[in-house]
Amino acid sequence: MILLTGGAGYIGSHTAVELIEAGYDVLIADNFYNSKPEVLDAIEKITGKRPALEEIDVCDVNKVDAMFEKYDIEAVLHFASYKAVGESVEKPLMYYRNDLDTLLTVMEAMKKHGVNNLIFSSSATVYGVPETVPLVEGMPTGCTNPYGWTKYMAEQIIQDVCYAQKDMSAVILRYFNPIGAHKSALIGEQPNGVPNNLMPYITQVASGIRPHLNVFGNDYDTPDGTGVRDYIHVVDIAKGHIAAVKYAMNHKGAEVVNLGTGNGYSVLDIVKTFERVNGVPVPYQIAPRREGDVAQCYANPDKAERLLGWKAEEDLDSMCKDAWEWEKHITK
Ligand code: UFG
Repeated sequence: MILLTGGAGYIGSHTAVELIEAGYDVLIADNFYNSKPEVLDAIEKITGKRPALEEIDVCDVNKVDAMFEKYDIEAVLHFASYKAVGESVEKPLMYYRNDLDTLLTVMEAMKKHGVNNLIFSSSATVYGVPETVPLVEGMPTGCTNPYGWTKYMAEQIIQDVCYAQKDMSAVILRYFNPIGAHKSALIGEQPNGVPNNLMPYITQVASGIRPHLNVFGNDYDTPDGTGVRDYIHVVDIAKGHIAAVKYAMNHKGAEVVNLGTGNGYSVLDIVKTFERVNGVPVPYQIAPRREGDVAQCYANPDKAERLLGWKAEEDLDSMCKDAWEWEKHITK
């Protein structure tokens, strides 16, 4: 059985689908802090199989221990964490407490119960302000906000544990910018309140929930002046986890791997592509730069292909189309 902490969330739910379709038994541990129980119904509808569920907070040592007793867990995919950059600046203690506590609790339970395979959700945010792009795993790291530091610290904790426990295997996945949704339009991203991220904001503008998109800065040193990112289809990210699980089960030690496409697109590229493939307008205004944003951030994805045999397959048209199908599904 594969345990997905935070498995009802955006990336966890897509990974659950891919795992089930690849023949794995899936156990989701989630407290639905930032997700909904109906996600389990959607996963069942897509795959024909309902994942096992433990509705717990993975900071709860006793409940996590009981879960490891109850199930025969082969690998843990640790998604459970808070993820809003701005909120982490306002509430650093909440972020450090939760995001480190969940990891430590899960890793202590893994040690106690002899579970040696861990896949961790890290982020390209650990590259801080990149000196050059594309980003390669060995490049310098450093963060600009508490959310980023929790990922940075978590990476260090995992590396230290793998050094001390020679049976341990971990793949630390640095996600770039996951967008889009499952082709069924039954699962996708459901932000609470005003979206922080670009694609959910665009889909809400397109559906009329918000009047226009604020483009945060058009004076960056990029081809059109707007920020450049490596947007990657969430299903490609999910498939990257399957490749990482297979790798972890056959190797020891810790590896850090970028999950990106290697392509950088600007904010205006995304707006134009979204309008073209979906035939809907996305009105926008140029606004001041957002604090903490970098001009460009995109991956060199070669290590993922070399080590895991994984490569992103979906293009930007498909990401924009699937994001819009999902928005129509939730707003209808
Ligand atoms: N942007 C806008 N308007 C918006 C929202 C975003 O112009 O309303 C721009 C941003 O300035 C940036 C780009 O769109 O240039 C992407 O912004 P996102 O907020 O979607 O994503 P970020 O690259 O800022 O952050 C994402 C994740 C973080 C993660 C980081 C890693 O949200 O969790 O990637 O690089 F840490």
